[in-house]
Amino acid sequence: MTRPTHILAIDQGTTSTRSIVFSDAARAVATAQTEFPQHYPRRGWVEHDPEDIWRDTLATAREAIAASGVGVAGLAGIGITNQRETVVVWERATGKPIYNAIVWQDRRTAATCQALKAEGAEALVRARTGLLLDPYFSGTKLAWILNEVAGARAAAERGDLAFGTIDSFLLWRLTGGKVHATDVTNAGRTLLYDIRRQCWDEELCRLLGVPLAMLPEVHDNAHVFGTTEAGLFGAPLPVAGMAGDQQAALFGQACFEPGMAKSTYGTGCFMLLNTGEEALASDHRLLTTPAYRLDGRMTYALEGSIFVAGAAVKWLRDGIGVITHASQTNDMATQVPDSHGVYMVPAFVGLGAPHWDPEARGAIFGLTFGASAAHLARAALEAVGYQTLDLAEAMIADGGQAPAIMRVDGGMAANDWLCQFLADMLETPVERPVHLETTALGAAFHAGLATGVWADQAALARTWTRGQCFEPAMGRDMRATLIAGWREALGKTLSHS
Ligand code: G3P
Repeated sequence: MTRPTHILAIDQGTTSTRSIVFSDAARAVATAQTEFPQHYPRRGWVEHDPEDIWRDTLATAREAIAASGVGVAGLAGIGITNQRETVVVWERATGKPIYNAIVWQDRRTAATCQALKAEGAEALVRARTGLLLDPYFSGTKLAWILNEVAGARAAAERGDLAFGTIDSFLLWRLTGGKVHATDVTNAGRTLLYDIRRQCWDEELCRLLGVPLAMLPEVHDNAHVFGTTEAGLFGAPLPVAGMAGDQQAALFGQACFEPGMAKSTYGTGCFMLLNTGEEALASDHRLLTTPAYRLDGRMTYALEGSIFVAGAAVKWLRDGIGVITHASQTNDMATQVPDSHGVYMVPAFVGLGAPHWDPEARGAIFGLTFGASAAHLARAALEAVGYQTLDLAEAMIADGGQAPAIMRVDGGMAANDWLCQFLADMLETPVERPVHLETTALGAAFHAGLATGVWADQAALARTWTRGQCFEPAMGRDMRATLIAGWREALGKTLSHS
């Protein structure tokens, strides 16, 4: 019998769920994708129904396998990658969530974070987890569920409830409730995991009131976590790789050497710089985070997290209807010579790195009667460039060298105008791979390493293919004027300005 050579990657993102079958040449041979509903029960709250996520995962996985032509027999295993920090709590006995998934963008725990900061807890959190006290991370969301859902705390203390990020929840469902586990990159975003000692931290669990009994086991990224129930896909398949989506993208971009960086433009934008075996502490409010752990050896990254990138374009489409398709923004931005003095600060869910301002809210500045939909679209794209620049500057100030090249990916990286603007802002060449599905590919890489589809990281790096490279071209004065305008708009948006 021939050895299976393909991997099914499940990429469960913030607004859509997709499944992609990759060949051993790292090419996507079949893709299935579906968007799912977002719930905004109150101002600043964002929830998902975990049953929607499970349903779409199964449906897209089955569709991609059917379309791949290789069938289940051709698959060596499954890799999962996921929107990070989003919290699910479910009953071990039934597998049923006790509350909706609270999404990473949700701001409901801003006051809790503020209170913890006032108690002086941030230094401890930073030292152990590499994170900050911001509602972005899982820990305070989990505490909210335990405090607010009737009976939850007692049930958790009895060991009846399980906590997981989306990877962990899907693994539980795929294995028919047999495996409760996660990987280092997802554990590292919970506020409960010591990223240097590489274990759950009892003191942090006490601080947030989280019983250890509900936490998953933590493994390397390339690891056979469990086996799917035979009935799901017709034959059991090993779940052999898991990683949070931004770390998976870093891996899928083959950024294996210290100093290599990538920026992914999805719902948000996340820039990760490989710092090797050193967990570099940031003085500029960036995050220190596990990038991947293979054979027990951890590689770390510095991360800049921007909460809104593609989400602003989605808002232009779904919120105010000035576009009908996201890809229009490329032409609209090209149609006009500049943004006509319009700046958009997309603080729809507060601001992430390097400001960490959960109370800030979105704003548009510089509107005149001359401003058109095209100017608004251009301002939304420009905001992505300015925010990326702010992250890059913080990374350099932290002692990370300026990346010689920035690799980009994610849906928005298909936008040529944006890639050129990024190169202009960063004054660095921006390199776009031929295949933009690097997040899913990163998960496939992990699963493929664990199942022998690829021998080692060198084999993975050989599959990476450069597409287009965008060279900086903007004049210095123009760049300086644009950046000054952005900084002024940003200053007016920060809640403590
Ligand atoms: O930290 C949040 C991040 O993982 C979400 O990624 O791709 O859904 O924007 P994405």
